Amino acid sequence: MRTQVAIIGSGPSGLLLGQLLATIGVETVILERSSREHVLGRVRAGVLEQGTVDLLGEAGAADRLHAEGLPHAGISLAFDGRLHRIDLTALTGGKHVTVYGQTEVTHDLMDKREAAGLVTVYEAANVALHDFDGTAPFVTYDKDGVGHRIDCDFIAGCDGYHGVSRRSEGALKTFERTYPFGWLGVLAEVPPADHELVYANHERGFALCSMRSPHRSRYYVQCPADERVEAWSDDRFWDELRRRLPPQTAAAVTTGPSFEKSIAPLRSFVAEPMRFGKLFLVGDAAHIVPPTGAKGLNLAASDVRYLFAGLREFYRERSQAGLDAYSAKALARVWKAVRFSWWMTTILHRFPETGEFGQRIQEAELDYLVHSKAASTALAENYVGLPY
Ligand code: APR
Ligand code: PHB
Repeated sequence: MRTQVAIIGSGPSGLLLGQLLATIGVETVILERSSREHVLGRVRAGVLEQGTVDLLGEAGAADRLHAEGLPHAGISLAFDGRLHRIDLTALTGGKHVTVYGQTEVTHDLMDKREAAGLVTVYEAANVALHDFDGTAPFVTYDKDGVGHRIDCDFIAGCDGYHGVSRRSEGALKTFERTYPFGWLGVLAEVPPADHELVYANHERGFALCSMRSPHRSRYYVQCPADERVEAWSDDRFWDELRRRLPPQTAAAVTTGPSFEKSIAPLRSFVAEPMRFGKLFLVGDAAHIVPPTGAKGLNLAASDVRYLFAGLREFYRERSQAGLDAYSAKALARVWKAVRFSWWMTTILHRFPETGEFGQRIQEAELDYLVHSKAASTALAENYVGLPY
């Protein structure tokens, strides 16, 4: 088989890139290790920057997002027993974020790809990347025990943190920070405690009130890194969540049976560069941020935006300039989001090792943050998304 761009991974990065390339008539094949159902079964974050919404629109995959996404003009930080609202819209000259689950984004993109008759090979085993340093790259994989080969112009490594693309290149420099805790998350068919997101700093640990819709809530509590999800009954989760929220917010929590409960580790990770010859790393394949800033999916989208622009320039004008600039442009934005996510994590969580000094510094920072317009503006500007 031959295609123009072989895309590894059918997460948001691979699907969005494939859809954008389809709008300019560039052919793609997506190779995905798992099944469609497995990809759609993963629950992930749900806050979209305006730039991400716009790019999904450009890809023709934003109809349901526009109908069902919830525009949010602010978030609240909770500490000292009360809520402190950050007015994102007022502080950024009119911008907002949109709450819409990543699972739904993936669903919409998959539907669009299927409707257009574009090829995705699910359950593609042993995907391997070849000769991307030369002029004739190709990808091999097994499907139902039979070996296949796809020749292509370029390979887009959109296969997430555990994918094969990053591991195919030895000359990477990686940067990593792990955090000494995880997030225990719960999805429940109950109305959210607040109409906006609440990020809580509490002596028992961080908590987050989020949502997927007016009748579906997503909550998280900070937990030890080695915690077992089986140790958390729904009752234990709801009790712990409410203890970490200001009284008014705790009283507004509607409890109910959870239908998803999982623990995610927190990590910051960046691999440089993001391009090796004809191979481009995109999204989680190249970088991971802790979820505190809600940047994971938005960074994947900004990588796609830069790579799409480079590929469009190549196919329309035979110019390599955009492709040559991809890694540096993407990384400049990635590092700013890595910094923001690390900072949000640092000010909101309990760190077992920082002691009372660290604690007082955190209190001073939060107090400064909500009382200084300059500091609140810096948060708001990053939260709604920095320019491209
Ligand atoms: N071969 C083929 N596909 C693979 C392989 C492989 N060896 N390894 C992984 N994959 C697939 C995974 O099964 C997954 O469906 O690649 C896809 C990668 O998708 P994501 O992990 O969702 O990564 P990405 O598309 O970059 O999306 C980034 O996802 O993890 C969140 O917070 C993150 O929101 C961000 C978004
Ligand atoms: C979520 O809704 O899952 C969510 C929202 C905001 C975050 C992280 C996760 O910062």
